[in-house]
Formats: sequence, C-alpha cells, structure tokens
Amino acid sequence: MANDNKLQSIIGHCKEYGFIFQSSEIYDGLSAVYDYGQYGSELKKNIRDYWWRSMTQMHDNIVGIDAAIFMHPTTWKASGHVDNFSDPMIDNKDSKKRYRVDHLLEAHAETLPEAEGKALLEKMDQLLAAEDFTGLKALIEENKIKCAVSDTCNWTEVRQFNLMFSTQVGSVAEEASEIYLRPETAQGIFVNFLNVQKTGRMKIPFGIAQTGKAFRNEIVARGFIFRMREFEQMEMQFFVRPGTQKEWYEYWKEARMKWHLSLGIAPERYRFHDHVKLAHYADAACDIEFDFPMGFKEVEGIHSRTDFDLKNHQQFSGKKLTYFDTELNQHYIPYVVETSIGLDRTVMMILSEAYEEQDLSEGDKQDSRVVLKFPPMLAPIKLAVLPLTKKDGLPELARELINECKPHFKCFYEEKDSIGKRYRRQDAIGTPFCVTIDHQTKEDGTVTIRHRDSMQQERVPMAGIKQLILEKIQAF
Ligand code: GAP
Repeated sequence: MANDNKLQSIIGHCKEYGFIFQSSEIYDGLSAVYDYGQYGSELKKNIRDYWWRSMTQMHDNIVGIDAAIFMHPTTWKASGHVDNFSDPMIDNKDSKKRYRVDHLLEAHAETLPEAEGKALLEKMDQLLAAEDFTGLKALIEENKIKCAVSDTCNWTEVRQFNLMFSTQVGSVAEEASEIYLRPETAQGIFVNFLNVQKTGRMKIPFGIAQTGKAFRNEIVARGFIFRMREFEQMEMQFFVRPGTQKEWYEYWKEARMKWHLSLGIAPERYRFHDHVKLAHYADAACDIEFDFPMGFKEVEGIHSRTDFDLKNHQQFSGKKLTYFDTELNQHYIPYVVETSIGLDRTVMMILSEAYEEQDLSEGDKQDSRVVLKFPPMLAPIKLAVLPLTKKDGLPELARELINECKPHFKCFYEEKDSIGKRYRRQDAIGTPFCVTIDHQTKEDGTVTIRHRDSMQQERVPMAGIKQLILEKIQAF
C-alpha cells in the first residue's frame, strides 16, 4: 500500500473503530487537536503505563512525579522558552498562510532526487544553525518553492514566532498576570529537583520521570497525531555528576533504543539522528526516528542538557539548587541527561506498525481483514469471550470466564452475529485472544482459543485461560 494511502487508511480506521476522533468534530473540528475514544484511550494508557513502569519500577534510582501544567511565569524566563522557544516562520503574502521554514524546505526536499534533497537539507541545517534568516529566505526563493494555497513565491522575510500559549490568572483584568501552558513537562521536574532529592534522599545519579500534557502553538500541524497543539509527553531527567554527562548520554541512547525494540518492532524501523543545530540548553542531542507512513521522523529526543536549567532556576529564583556529593565532599549543580518521548507519537508509531490489510481469499472465495497486530501487553482489549449461541447456558459460562478474568485484564463480551464476524471486529481493534464457548464447553470444560495474528485455533481448558493470557501480556 502506498504510504500516503496507509496514513489515510489508519486515520479512517481509528475513527471507525473508536480509537481517535477529531476534537469538537460536531463543530467541524479544531485543527491539530484530537480526542481519544474508547479503544484509543486504553491503548494510550497501556503505552503510558509501560513507559512509567520501565522507568520507575525497573530502575531503583528513578522516581515519578506529577507536576501542574501551570507554573510560575518566571519558570519560562529561566528555561529560555520566552526568549528562545520559537521557530523561523515565513508568510506567503498572497494567501497569508504561515509556514515553518524547515517544514517548507523538508517538504520540497522530498520532491527532489535523493542526492539533491539531501544537499538541500544539509544547506538548511547549516543556515538554521547559524540563524541566518536572510539565507533561509534566499534558499526558499532559489528553489522556487511555492505556497500550496496561492501557488506563488511571494514570501515575507523569515521571522521568529514563539510557540507558547498564554492565558491569564486572576479575576480582575488589572490584577491578572500572564501565565503559559507548559510547552514541555521537563520544567516541572527541574523546579522540584530539590524537593524530590531531599524528601526521597536520592543520591546522584538519579532520575525523575513524569508524563503529562504539553501545549505548543504549532504553525504547521500535520500528520494526524504526529504534530498536535495539545499533546502528551513522557519525560525523564537524569541528574549526574558534571563531567559524566557524555557517558550517561550514551547509556540512555542505548537504553531507550532497547525499550523501543522491546515493543517487538524490528531494528531497521528505527534510526538515530544527531542534531546539527543544538537547542539552547544542550551540549549533545539526538532523535530516535521511526519509519512512519510519511517516512523516518522523530519519536523521541535524548538531550544532554548540561546544568543549564538548574543553574538558571537558581539564578532566577534566588534559591540554591546545589547537591552535596558525599563521595566527592563537594557541592555542585548536577548535569542532566533527558529522555523525552511523545506519547501521541508513540501511539501513532504503534498504530502504524500494527495496521495490516490482509487478503485472505482462497480459490473463488473472496475474504480480507484489517488487523491491528498490537503487542498483547498494549492491546486495548486482551480477551474477547464469545458464546456460540445466545442460549443453552452458553452466555452464563461466558460471563463466568469474564468474571474470573476482568479483575486482571480488560475483557469484552459479545454474542451478536456469526463467530467469523465477531473475530473480524476483534481483529480490527487488535484483541490478541478470542475465546469461543460452545456446547462442548458444557460437557468437558474446554473452549476454543483463537490467536489474532496466526488465526490458529486450539482447544484448551477454560480453567487455564486466565493464566495463559496473564503470561502473554506480562511486560517484565
Ligand atoms: N523536554 C524536551 C522536549 O520537549 P522536544 O524534542 O521538543 O523536546 C520531545 O519534544 C518529544 O515530544 C518529541 O520527540 C515528540 O515525540 C513530542 N512532541 C513534540 N512536539 C510535539 C507535537 N507538537 N505533537 C506531538 N508530539 C510532540
């Protein structure tokens, strides 16, 4: 399937099967904002839980927090976001449409032969690194890049545009002060660094993890849930001795890639991309890129953030944010290595990896299915229990199995339509196991378990189903 078609098919499937809807759809939607439906929210929660447990449960020296979205406005001065969290933008004078310069050039590079496209992107990276806005505009003009709406090359100068959303706190206009919706969760960790270190008696190296919403006024929001204005991040700040950041950076690069591979995704679907233009806080940074339907794109960032954030928070707050290292008998501001992954982007990664359209035709008999091959631990529903008929005590037996299993994992009961149709509906939402209860169950206590990916069926004792599924969905 062509990749563009695949993305469109996934978007359609997500809507049809209750995974992801456009926000406020009845009002024609809100651009780059999405809602998760009954299965999407389960999938997202399972990914979030897996990440959270991988960080906080599987590492003795990483703890989790849940900081507020609203933070003191000085936070964003100290972090550099007020001054630096902007992207170079360019407007088309005829259509008035605004573009991120890098997106405009990247989209154009994709239309060129590979070597030319690569050369264009290299040039763009150099100009971005040098913050050479005149050079960027010239590059757009040299390449005769047109606005998709007006079809003209009538461009404004390139300007910086801050991506933070702001709002007011306080009831009376004169008293109200401007605050920002956090553009990253990381700052909630930095401002709580000493609270956690002291109350948890944490010793360096240690990490603080957090998941939560972040907001960015993305100008070109595209690619479904790839680039949203409201999204969720899963971030971990790892505090280390100054001078050791390089080795911890390498450690976390490897550890995070291992996490991705633990999702059962093949290594060739990933690659590292080292940053040429480093963010204002970093001394090394790379992305883990995944081969999405629209090509290799960033799913996670790993950043060596130096002592930039803590040092600035210390300066702006006037509060000491140093750590006493008993081994070195020395006070210092720790350095930080950050791992930052987008939860929505991970949902999109898992969906694109899992989505498969299969032709199951045999001879003259036409048949097909859409199946979501989720890793069982991430599937929204783990077990569907399907009585063959609505009578003869079969629904009661099915309910018995559901009651046994539902305290342990999410189950689904259905008695309508043929078994074949019910299997197809479960395939479409990625349920790894379906159990059919039939008349033989009444006689010998066995059921048919059907495996989603192979479609193989086997007869097993109903009493063993719970344990069998628990073993398959175990993460660690
Ligand atoms: N604290 C560092 C930080 O926020 P980032 O590279 O800007 O770094 C980290 O963001 C991750 O957050 C990205 O790798 C991506 O997965 C996700 N992300 C960033 N902007 C996003 C957006 N507009 N929509 C969805 N996910 C986004």
